[in-house]
Parts: sequence; C-alpha cells; structure tokens
Amino acid sequence: MASSILVTGGTGTLGNLVVPMLREAGRPVRVLSRSVREVGNGVEYVQGDLLKDEGIEAAVAGVRTVVHLAGGPKGDDVATANLMRAVAAAGVEHVVYISVIGANRVPLGYFRAKSDAERVVAESGVPWTTLRAAQFHDLVLNVTQKMARMPVVPVPGGLRFQPVDAREVAARLVELALGEPAGLVPDLAGPRVYGMGELSRGYLRASGKRRPLLPVRMPGKAGKAYRAGDNLTLEGATVGTRTWEAFLAERVSA
Ligand SMILES: NC(=O)c1ccc[n+]([C@@H]2O[C@H](COP(=O)([O-])OP(=O)(O)OC[C@H]3O[C@@H](n4cnc5c(N)ncnc54)[C@H](OP(=O)(O)O)[C@@H]3O)[C@@H](O)[C@H]2O)c1
Repeated sequence: MASSILVTGGTGTLGNLVVPMLREAGRPVRVLSRSVREVGNGVEYVQGDLLKDEGIEAAVAGVRTVVHLAGGPKGDDVATANLMRAVAAAGVEHVVYISVIGANRVPLGYFRAKSDAERVVAESGVPWTTLRAAQFHDLVLNVTQKMARMPVVPVPGGLRFQPVDAREVAARLVELALGEPAGLVPDLAGPRVYGMGELSRGYLRASGKRRPLLPVRMPGKAGKAYRAGDNLTLEGATVGTRTWEAFLAERVSA
C-alpha cells in the first residue's frame, strides 16, 4: 500500500480541496489538526499544534511526503520551524510548502513570516518543493464582503491583486506532491490583474448592493510596495483560468 501523505492545514480552505484530490489519486491521507476529529472518508486525523510544538512527531511518523498548508495571520515561521525539525528527524522524503507571491518583497509581518518559513523548508535538508500562490478568490471575497458592510467602500489607490481559484492551487499542489521535489516552482496567479475598486465593484454588482467607493491612500512602506506591484507576478507565472467574475457568479447571489 502507498504510504500516507500528511497534510497540515488539511481542514482549511485549501486543505479541504487538496485532501479529496489526494484520495482520488489513491493516496492514504493523514491530516494534522488542532481539534480532535474522527477518521472519515479514508482520512486519518492526528491532533497537534504546530505553534505549540505539540503532536507533530506522531503526525509525521511513517510518512514519506508532507504537504504543509497550515497557516495563519501570524507565526508561520515558528510553526514551520517546529514542523521541519520533526520532518527531518522522521526521514520524510519530500515536503511541499504553500507560500504567497511577494513573500520575499512585501514588508508586512505575514509576508516576512512566509519568507522565513520558505527558508526553513529550503535549509532543512529535506527535499522540498515550494509554490507561491496569489490571493485566493475566497480571501478576496471575504475582504470585499467586509468592506461592503461599510456605508462607503474604501479603495486603496494602486492596490492590485491577481486572485486565483483555490481549486487550481489545490490541483497544482497535488501534482507537485505526487511528483519529485522541484525546489521553488513558478508562481501561480489568477488570469487577470484587478484594481481593488474593480474587485469591490464586481462584488457589489454580483450581490445587488449599491455603495459609493472612496479612494484612499495606503500609507507607509507597505503602501509603497503594493503600489509598486510587489505582491504580483506579472511575468513567468503559471496562470489559472477561473476569473473573479466566474467565482462570483458561482458563490454570490443578489
Ligand atoms: N488564502 C490565501 O489567499 C492564500 C494565498 C497564498 C497562500 N496562502 C497560504 O495557504 C495556506 C492555506 O490557506 P487557507 O486560506 O486554506 O487557510 P485557512 O482556511 O485559514 O486554514 C488554516 C489551516 O491551518 C491550520 N492551522 C492553523 N494554525 C495551526 C496550528 N497552530 N497548528 C496546526 N494547524 C494549524 C488549521 O487547522 P485546524 O483549525 O484544524 O487546526 C487550518 O486547517 C496558508 O499557509 C496560507 O498562508 C493562502
């Protein structure tokens, strides 16, 4: 029987798509989660916490491939260092890590932690593959929904995104996990670059809401980096096919 693939973050937005795809490919899957869960659909759950460094040894025992998707707004560097210590000690043969486009450029804590986590993976001695993806449609939807709760929707000038469908990111990660370690692979972005105003207008149209938009200026180094497009990959990326409009048509009704 093929050995289990451990998926950290297997309960999240991306992980919920990756896990069934790995099962369809015939691979047994183990998921690390902070909460206790019953075995289901051939998926085994191991309780653990990457930030608290708990339960990781048991999760990686006997596993050849780890797909590391667990993440949060803070601490991905620490969580990844804890994971990679256990992964190296367990003799894992391939780690696949999901990072974000601009990890090495955008001067914000989340991006810095992703960049540090990338380095920990690359320097672990374990063969690795890292994919940097653009923001998922789900995240952009969350942001535009929250902004649309305000009477006036702020639109930071120069802020652009290349939102990508999480299903396309999941499919690429599964392909990478079933292949050989490949190092840093080409970034994965969505099919179009949108200004923040376009994204908000698309959401408002799809949900049948009307709100005035208010241009605002993003201050500081982060604002400068975003205006320079440091969170984008305009050349050399693998480009997904599903657009923001197609995602909205599927997920948002007026
Ligand atoms: N969302 C985006 O637009 C985007 C873009 C590029 C890259 N990424 C990266 O893609 C990954 C997945 O993102 P997502 O949007 O699917 O995240 P998500 O829906 O917020 O899910 C986060 C996952 O991480 C797990 N997790 C969080 N803290 C943990 C801890 N201390 N120990 C163990 N597990 C922990 C959670 O598991 P439990 O709650 O079950 O413990 C959950 O499965 C992240 O690494 C993120 O940085 C996201």
